Amino acid sequence: MSRVFSGIQPTGDPHIGNYFGAMQNYVRLGEQYGKQSLYCVVDLHAITNPGAFDPRTLAEKTFDMAVANFAIGLDPSRVIFFVQSHVPEHQELSWIFTCVTPVGELERMTQYKDKSAQFESVPSGLLMYPALMAADILLYKADTVPVGEDQTQHIELTREIARKFNHNFGETFTEPRAVYNQGALRIPGVDGQGKMSKSKGNTIGILEPLDDIWQKLRVAPTDPARVRRTDPGDPDKCLIGDYHKLFSPPETLETVYQGCRTAGIGCVDCKKMLMTHLGAHLEPIQARAAELRSDPDFVRDALRQGAQEARAIASEVMNEVREKVGF
Ligand code: ADP
Ligand code: NA
Repeated sequence: MSRVFSGIQPTGDPHIGNYFGAMQNYVRLGEQYGKQSLYCVVDLHAITNPGAFDPRTLAEKTFDMAVANFAIGLDPSRVIFFVQSHVPEHQELSWIFTCVTPVGELERMTQYKDKSAQFESVPSGLLMYPALMAADILLYKADTVPVGEDQTQHIELTREIARKFNHNFGETFTEPRAVYNQGALRIPGVDGQGKMSKSKGNTIGILEPLDDIWQKLRVAPTDPARVRRTDPGDPDKCLIGDYHKLFSPPETLETVYQGCRTAGIGCVDCKKMLMTHLGAHLEPIQARAAELRSDPDFVRDALRQGAQEARAIASEVMNEVREKVGF
């Protein structure tokens, strides 16, 4: 039997990197796998980075992340959608995994190196993050994990942890594989400085007011070789070109590519065309999000139900794990 798991941090308004990189696959796989697909707002992960979360807004952001996922078409009655801290088995399995994971393996994770560099005193939870992520996935014996490319190293470590556990305690877990959206492996941020990421403040939120998005796009850098309006540009070296590939239909792509290469259109025209298609894509999502926000009981009930469904699977797997470990 095949099962899907993925987690997303409670950042409130997910950005278009989260959306195209991972969340669209939640919907696609959710339709295919139904209740054999689990999606989790990972609030335990969020608190590993004390600079990036606020206890006064964590619950609200968790709620908003659920709203965003339901608004893009993930149906909580057809999949299992829940909040990580509502299922305490995640922490129990995580602890067991930290006991089979060498510190050196955790220290060589590039996300850990990047994130820990900003602290004078590094919280040990930040180091343990990948062991918790392995627990999230293996707690459901999931074999299919839709994520962005930045999670490759963590999935590889999850596979190693599964092997190590099986070796020490007997065959229990299968090794999961990552599923990527090939057209959106690593969406660049609006600052043109690499990956779009909440921590870098270079995001376009899927629930962000369209006027605010336009203000960001208006000043976003384009192909640096295109200094004057009459200079031809290379849309493959331009993040506006990258965004067009996500939002615009083939005919617009054709116009934009041709126009950029021949200096037939300027960067502002190109950004306006992007804004038209981006707006058309995000408007219905934002409308559904507004409806969901006006019915908070629906969202809370869905999360409660999701936690129950997740726990039914988690408690069975934990019984097996406890017995194998000798508890
Ligand atoms: P963030 O990276 O913004 O802190 P998460 O860690 O919660 O958010 O990531 C949620 C999902 O979105 C993960 O599967 C991650 O790989 C994916 N993702 C994040 N940023 C990008 C990006 N710029 N391009 C593609 N996928 C991304
Ligand atoms: Na991430």
